[in-house]
Amino acid sequence: MSIELDHVRKQYAAPDGTVVPVIDIDSFSIGDAEQVALIGTSGSGKTTLLHMIAGILTPDSGSIRFGANGSAVDVAKLSEAQRDVFRGQNIGYIFQTHHLLPGFTALENVQLGMSFTGRAHDPEWAKHLLTEVGLGDRLHYRPQKLSVGQQQRVAAARALANRPKLVLADEPTGALDTTNAQQVLDLIRKLCSEVGSSLLLVSHDLNIAKQLPRVVTLSELNRAGRTPSS
Ligand SMILES: Nc1ncnc2c1ncn2[C@@H]1O[C@H](COP(=O)(O)OP(=O)(O)O)[C@@H](O)[C@H]1O
Ligand SMILES: [Mg+2]
Repeated sequence: MSIELDHVRKQYAAPDGTVVPVIDIDSFSIGDAEQVALIGTSGSGKTTLLHMIAGILTPDSGSIRFGANGSAVDVAKLSEAQRDVFRGQNIGYIFQTHHLLPGFTALENVQLGMSFTGRAHDPEWAKHLLTEVGLGDRLHYRPQKLSVGQQQRVAAARALANRPKLVLADEPTGALDTTNAQQVLDLIRKLCSEVGSSLLLVSHDLNIAKQLPRVVTLSELNRAGRTPSS
């Protein structure tokens, strides 16, 4: 599914009350099943942008449309409850650290990724995903019995559990060594291709980012934070 941002702005109030513009983007789009890397310095607004696309945060103004014109959904116009449902049905999210539930096995964690949509559990699909990420023999392991790289592979499988239209990955390899980072990147990309999900992946590591077909630099897109003369 294509995603189109139009005149999206977000500002925060600093502790002293001053207003800090963080995002001011005229236009940005991700194509159907396209894989895009987003790079930018720390504090430049990458997570804020992902949170707005996911409907965790709403922009102060502008639209974030999912889908083709006639049937497009603007997440910025939905209520919080509607955004939660929309996210559960359409978006997979991968964080820098795995955010798995410690009391549940790898398989249960992936199946829990399905339950928020009210869709029936699909253990075969969950097993397939875990096998795809090389954990077919670790289905019943709890997160603390898995290595950090394996935990992040479970998180990748969980993000694809609902066959999302879009996967948002916020520094998904940031806590991993080079070998594990490469594996996790390859697996995220493979699963997105298999499901047909679009992918927006944040990384500060150019060696990771440049492997994706399109690399976007946030500062080139974003007017917020620039000095007036630049
Ligand atoms: N809830 C908040 N209130 C005020 N400022 C915030 C809040 N969240 C983030 N910021 C500020 O917004 C800027 C962008 O943050 P963030 O999107 O996390 O950047 P990045 O992910 O690129 O490191 C930072 O300067 C940060 O301090
Ligand atoms: Mg961030």
